[in-house]
Amino acid sequence: MSIAVNTKNDVFLINTKSTSYAFGVDDLGLIRHLYWGKKIGAVEELELPQLTEVSTNDPVFEITREEFPVYGGLRYKEHCLKATFADGTRELVYQYCGYDVEEGDDWEELVVHLKDNHYEFLMDLHYKIYPEYDLMERKVVIQNQTADPVQVEKLHSAQFHIPYEDLNFSNVHGHWGAEQQRFVQKVSYGKIVIENRRGISTHNHNPYFVLDRNATETEGEVYFGALRLSGNFSGVVEQTPYGETLVQMGLNPHDCVLELAPGDSFEAPSILCGYSAHGFETMTHNLHRFAQDHILRPGLRPVLYNSWEATEFHVNSRDQIKLAQKAAELGAELFVLDDGWFGERHSIQNGLGDWYVNEGKFPNGLEELIDAVKGLNMKFGIWVEPEMVNPKAQLYQQHPDWIYHYETRVSDTSRVQYVLNITKPEVRAFLYEMLDDLLTRYEIDYIKWDANRPISQTGPQRDVWYKHIQTVYGIVTELKKKHPDVLFEACASGGGRIDYGILGVFDDFWTSDNTDAYDRLYIQDSYSRIYPIKAMRAWVTDCPNFLSGRMIPLTFRYHSAMMGSLGIGCNILKFSTEETELSQRMIAQYKEIRPIIQEGEFYRLENPSADRYFLYEYLREDRGVFFAFLPQSKVGHRGTTIRLRGLEENATYILHTSSKGEIAKSGGYLMHHGLEVKLNGDYASLMIRFEKQ
Ligand code: GLA
Repeated sequence: MSIAVNTKNDVFLINTKSTSYAFGVDDLGLIRHLYWGKKIGAVEELELPQLTEVSTNDPVFEITREEFPVYGGLRYKEHCLKATFADGTRELVYQYCGYDVEEGDDWEELVVHLKDNHYEFLMDLHYKIYPEYDLMERKVVIQNQTADPVQVEKLHSAQFHIPYEDLNFSNVHGHWGAEQQRFVQKVSYGKIVIENRRGISTHNHNPYFVLDRNATETEGEVYFGALRLSGNFSGVVEQTPYGETLVQMGLNPHDCVLELAPGDSFEAPSILCGYSAHGFETMTHNLHRFAQDHILRPGLRPVLYNSWEATEFHVNSRDQIKLAQKAAELGAELFVLDDGWFGERHSIQNGLGDWYVNEGKFPNGLEELIDAVKGLNMKFGIWVEPEMVNPKAQLYQQHPDWIYHYETRVSDTSRVQYVLNITKPEVRAFLYEMLDDLLTRYEIDYIKWDANRPISQTGPQRDVWYKHIQTVYGIVTELKKKHPDVLFEACASGGGRIDYGILGVFDDFWTSDNTDAYDRLYIQDSYSRIYPIKAMRAWVTDCPNFLSGRMIPLTFRYHSAMMGSLGIGCNILKFSTEETELSQRMIAQYKEIRPIIQEGEFYRLENPSADRYFLYEYLREDRGVFFAFLPQSKVGHRGTTIRLRGLEENATYILHTSSKGEIAKSGGYLMHHGLEVKLNGDYASLMIRFEKQ
């Protein structure tokens, strides 16, 4: 048993393989946090120290490290839950009512039951632990058992207490074409808030926290948590005046009110969290392994070709077939037809909502292209943007009331489109039927589901910020039941929906519309900290890159894209013989190393050089591969030393190099002495495979 309870003093100790988490119920009935960190001893050793007020201005409620602070009484700190009862009472007073423990194959779950001491309003704190992964999933489930509706104005899923000041907080900032820009900032007095208010986007911040004590990849303490939600989230980090740092995350209260009718319950999105005593790498490995085993659909992801950058909206059967033939010749396994195939979709101006095949572009129907793709032994994928409609589309003309809007206001467009109110049953039914029909009528193996604008003017309902994304999850989950082999890619103007809420419902992420191979190194590095490599779609595209204007050699572009699930997005009909041959070689190599890349352990290696090398390693059992990138050498033109990680000290590894053939070295040598490597010129790169002898 990993969950231990001392019923004498109501103290709970949760142990995973190498971490512990503890809390208890104090004399006031408050659920008080006790410990989070390296594994500790028996539950009997833990006790709840008496709390004394610092002063009358710092009441006990304020200084208590509560597991789940509610709004009410002498509490002025961030609360996780605020509810208003029918009689106007706007505070909660909880009391502890016992606990339950459940067990599964590789998990255990502790549920602590709380209830308001006057109203029949229940709050269950869930702690689901996965001991082998050193991870825990926390959430709260609330239930209104009163005879009247209850308004919930704020609901964060959990609060965490970290017993230090001066921590580093890291997350990502960004925007379209520049997602996943990692930032690190010192936590000091005052609050750090990260959030998303756009309803569909994680471009700007990502719903996770990482707090570290000057950690490196392999050393130092790291506390982390990732919220399983793609809609509006908020997270607050605060160093309190009482010598600790607290962090909480959950639904963004911005413009959001949940109404719980009598009998209703609401399950807040969970936070997947953990502690590492050995730096960021352990955090990454635990999350990646968990995602691999518990969240992602099993199996390797196909090498795809996507025609978006090559043809944009100018798609037609003849040209797409030519592209498909070339893609098959290169070694692609999946051909994806992007935007432009439906309705009057010739640009962003029209078409969204009219999901019938454009006859001018596909005079013999989609079947002609699909048959050709299947005849080439590839799978077929297609792009859709179901949540949206263009004002000019027939769908909007027929159903102007299907969009989010206020009757008295002009609705804003963005990318010339409105957002459908998919929380309306008739709109949801229309979308489900349209997609089901598409998947039933055609042999489609892959859906790229896009969403290219934020939600606005949501109408009178104040819970749509949450319900919208739940409806997306619901439609896809239902479609997958009926079409279980179809893979779904989550795209929202590039990497706008990258989170642990959508992962599992969808299978792949479109990481970013920024396909510049150098920019991608930064994006991929940040992404890799939290999210699994297998879901990271990365394409090789043409140069000069449409966004950066950069010219980058094709080998570097391949190496950069081979760091994730490889895709090709070039206009391959323009490839020279050399480019064709290089692509064939690279794609063949990728297929060989694919199990290592997609299912291995990922290492961000240290670069000891003054030149900015990017060094990454992947290791799966006895086989591995590493990449070195040098975007630009500096004056002095230094080499670097690649010190691998995760190897067996005394085993011998064979490295397959292009310059020196096979090299045999011990694990100890490769990890401590390392390989000296010097890359020359701009955008130089190297990939070396190795295996244990
Ligand atoms: C978004 C996506 C792109 C592409 C276009 C099509 O921008 O991120 O990959 O699908 O839409 O309009």
